Amino acid sequence: MLKIVVLISGTGSNLRALLDASADAAYPARVVAVGADREAPGLQHAEAYGIPSFTVPYGSYDSRAAWGDALLEQIRVWEPDLVVLSGLMRLVPPKVVDALAPNLINTHPAYLPEFPGAHGVRDAIRAGVDQTGASIIVVDNGVDQGPIIVQERVPVLPGDTEHELHERIKPVERRLLVQTVLDIANGLDLTALSTRLPASIKE
Ligand code: GAR
Repeated sequence: MLKIVVLISGTGSNLRALLDASADAAYPARVVAVGADREAPGLQHAEAYGIPSFTVPYGSYDSRAAWGDALLEQIRVWEPDLVVLSGLMRLVPPKVVDALAPNLINTHPAYLPEFPGAHGVRDAIRAGVDQTGASIIVVDNGVDQGPIIVQERVPVLPGDTEHELHERIKPVERRLLVQTVLDIANGLDLTALSTRLPASIKE
């Protein structure tokens, strides 16, 4: 059984999808704890499922590194096989990435490497593109630059607001995340993905 810690900042709809999936005895992964960098509304999903949660408030630490050390300490309590960044709206310090890689994955509401960063949906609308997407990646020390595990296109419709587009991307993210965790539990080799050279170097 794959043990997962999920880290969130927001509403936790992707977390909820993982919790719902792991309620099925046949699903080979379990969320063992949920962590947040603030009093995130999504922590209620952990409570609803009776899953332990922890909060490491970013503002309580003098530096990103100190926050990262406290976060890592909390994560390690649960001895997870995989850590999922599921709407954690903070850059994770290199020490944490290095300690967890490659068993650290992130969901992103765009078709990476397009529109990385904290405003992937807004940036796609502002760019005027007619399609964007959802991606699940292995986290490295770049901003949304790690190896792509899976991604899927989502159309941008005329007049879409950021909220409307995001609400159409999220169900795709949820499906890809649940499938990715299943694939990892079934032996998908993240190490092989992590050592893959970026396309620009390969060519
Ligand atoms: C998701 O769309 C996730 O990809 C995004 O935040 C949302 C969280 O939704 N993450 C990022 O943009 C990270 N750069 P949720 O809290 O409802 O799961």
